[in-house]
Amino acid sequence: MQSLPPSPVRFEHLPDGLGVGTGTPRLSWTTPPEAGDQQAYEIEIRRGDRTHRTGRVATADHHLVPWPAEPLVSRERAAVRVRTWSATGTEASPWSAPSPVEAGLLTPDDWTAVPVGAGWAEDPTAERRPARVRGHFRTGDKPIAHARLYITAHGLYEAEINGTRVGDETLAPGWTVYPHRLRYRTHDVTPLLDPGANTIGAWLADGWYRGKYGFDGGTRNIYGTDQSLIAQLEITHTDGTITVVATDHTWQAAFGPILTSGLYEGETFDARLDDPHWATPSAPQDGWTPVRTGKRDTRTLVAPEGPPVRCTQDIPPVTITRTADGRHLLDFGQNLVGRLRLTADGPAGTTLTLRHAEVLQDGELATRPLREAHSTDTLVLPGTGPYTWEPRFTLHGFRYAEISGWPGELTPEAVTARVHHTDMRRTGWFECSDPMVNRLHENVLWSMRGNFVDIPTDCPQRDERLGWTGDIQVFAPTASFLYDCAGMLDSWLTDVGLEQLPDGTVPWYVPVIPGEPMWTPIQPGAAWGDVATLTPWVLYRRFGDLELLRRHYRTGRAWVDLVERLAGPDRLWDTGFQLGDWLDPAAPPEDPAAGRTDRYLVATAYFAHSARHLAHAARALGHTADAVRYDTLADEITAAFQSRYVHADGRMSSDSPTAYALALAFDLLDASRRQAAGDRLAELVLLDDARVATGFVGTPLVCDALTDTGHLDTAYRLLLQTDCPSWLYPVTMGATTVWERWDSLRPDGTLNPGGMTSFNHYALGAVADWLHRVVGGIEVTAPGAAVLTFRPRPGGGITWARTRHETPHGTASLFWETTPSGLKARITVPPNCTAVAELPGRAPVGLGPGTHAFPATEGD
Ligand code: BGC
Repeated sequence: MQSLPPSPVRFEHLPDGLGVGTGTPRLSWTTPPEAGDQQAYEIEIRRGDRTHRTGRVATADHHLVPWPAEPLVSRERAAVRVRTWSATGTEASPWSAPSPVEAGLLTPDDWTAVPVGAGWAEDPTAERRPARVRGHFRTGDKPIAHARLYITAHGLYEAEINGTRVGDETLAPGWTVYPHRLRYRTHDVTPLLDPGANTIGAWLADGWYRGKYGFDGGTRNIYGTDQSLIAQLEITHTDGTITVVATDHTWQAAFGPILTSGLYEGETFDARLDDPHWATPSAPQDGWTPVRTGKRDTRTLVAPEGPPVRCTQDIPPVTITRTADGRHLLDFGQNLVGRLRLTADGPAGTTLTLRHAEVLQDGELATRPLREAHSTDTLVLPGTGPYTWEPRFTLHGFRYAEISGWPGELTPEAVTARVHHTDMRRTGWFECSDPMVNRLHENVLWSMRGNFVDIPTDCPQRDERLGWTGDIQVFAPTASFLYDCAGMLDSWLTDVGLEQLPDGTVPWYVPVIPGEPMWTPIQPGAAWGDVATLTPWVLYRRFGDLELLRRHYRTGRAWVDLVERLAGPDRLWDTGFQLGDWLDPAAPPEDPAAGRTDRYLVATAYFAHSARHLAHAARALGHTADAVRYDTLADEITAAFQSRYVHADGRMSSDSPTAYALALAFDLLDASRRQAAGDRLAELVLLDDARVATGFVGTPLVCDALTDTGHLDTAYRLLLQTDCPSWLYPVTMGATTVWERWDSLRPDGTLNPGGMTSFNHYALGAVADWLHRVVGGIEVTAPGAAVLTFRPRPGGGITWARTRHETPHGTASLFWETTPSGLKARITVPPNCTAVAELPGRAPVGLGPGTHAFPATEGD
């Protein structure tokens, strides 16, 4: 018998099984490395007094296995466990620890709650003060088995029951295309209920729903003018009956201590108005008035597909300096996204003002890059002793904070920076002998953390923070190595599909909100719109979820079909507005799209790449006719691309690194011109001593294009260049995140004067994917990482690298080190995977699960 059980079963791409949005959640588990490959499994599902067992199912499948029993109905609970058989033994493994799963509210009729919010008159054109709402209720006389709270809001909410906070989510319910999908979450609130009288209350704020959002001062009321809670508390008694307490006309509303709150603006909190008992049965009635009830189509309420945003780390200040006029300047040593928590004591009415910025200029916060986002929090002290506070409904991008009005001495223990983002499971690590490359990698990681805030955003600090499609399109390969972002991006891609225009146009950013004239009306643009085809494919490769690929296939196909129509019979997409190789360092500041690469060359290259990937997806999904059609289309576009943009000798009409990188990485050249193009690319890269000469489009591709045409050394020179522009230049300037521009901070220490100067943008960090695959040497070569290639390509004086990736099957890792007698390596292949090791100078060798050591002398 195998001595170790499989891992506990996981459901879909969720962190736990509470409140799943489907009656048939798919099941995944991993088997222990020692167990050998799985030959069979048996799943057991216990629900009430019924037990369903699949019996022994002879298969190696262990990832996203279809729910094998009757679907769960709303609220139904089950415990799921699995045991497996491996090749090494005829007996089953022990059962895994049981994983609880519980369906959320699966049908629209399950909801009785209606939106409730302030009953008083509000001026929708002005800043409105946030409300709190509450309802008193009794639990009834019957003993309680368990209680669930299903909850969401128009705006943002934080709920309390009898004075205790429910859950630990930040900015719930997150941001989706609200008219179509509003996410609710399920909480187990059993321990919060008291016998007899109880109170549930919620803090509310405008958030994305009706707060001012978007560039140029933003737009109010994007989704509606109300700010409301939708909550349904269901108390299940031991006799099976259910008491439902839902938001309705009996609830009350009042102002709370939050005076103002905005995602960009920050929050103002008057702690003199704070009454910690406001959501308890004994709370006074003064000031509470009946709510106004609203409407919500309950068909649009959806369960989460991934983890929520929450605080994942606390960072103490590294230094605190006092300015001559008495302000305190705090440096947290890391550019991050979150907010401050502080404990202060002073006379009632003492006002503390907290400002935030990513960089300093002349010893002061540099807030110009924030544009209209004030990012200022204000706390008025109650004068009742030490008071601990953290704003609730705002986030800031900052490394530095300035606090004015602090009473007395400010000690480091009194303030921490709390890091908030979507709380994804970390799955990727990379480290090598070069400390600057490691810092670059850390910066990429931090920029991912800062910008994966329910949706994948471009930047976290200025008046933008939008789901720019191009940014995540280029970053998805890196993101999906570093974190399990399948659930979060699957949800966001659903919104991409919802926001797609009827003609197939994919918006520049999703969710769509009013924008500058440049983005309205929405026009189709290459590299951004291609998120529809390329990102589902990346996720399918990494996470092996064919259903995810299927869900987003139509969106991708409509996109390619649109571009096909735009391009016309000559297959060249050479009309309309394009962003080209956005932020090419040679582009003039006033037109970041006007780099050295013809924007229509970029457009046609992406057209070919998307058509090819659509064909791949079609084939994987069994749409054979589509596969043939889009492969043919891709062939035709490739031919058109060659005759329009590539000369006979391999030179290209845009003689720029991005042009060659695109043609090579997207496989748009015939064999005879490939090498010449690669050689020219290397020449161009070295012309300016390997300073970077690419923008959003070329940057993620250039190292691969060099590597694949025999110019690995040049790729390393590019990676290791420290002069501006380069990946390591920001590191030399003390960067702790990836910048939007190669020179967001210029060599003379001044801010880039451009209107867009973010210090936390992940797009140019897409090079980390090359670090993982080429320097680190771990490459996924079949969907779901079922086949891995371990192919490190050392260079650049780097003497060792250690890379690890949690695949759907378990841990893959590779450590290599150069020694005087050659390269030594240690490779771990997860169970149920096959792998090939292609170590430099050695013949490829097939590997099975387990850890394999390659001593330095072997084969040398
Ligand atoms: C964003 C980008 C985005 C770009 C598109 C910028 O304002 O920050 O990252 O992709 O606009 O032009």
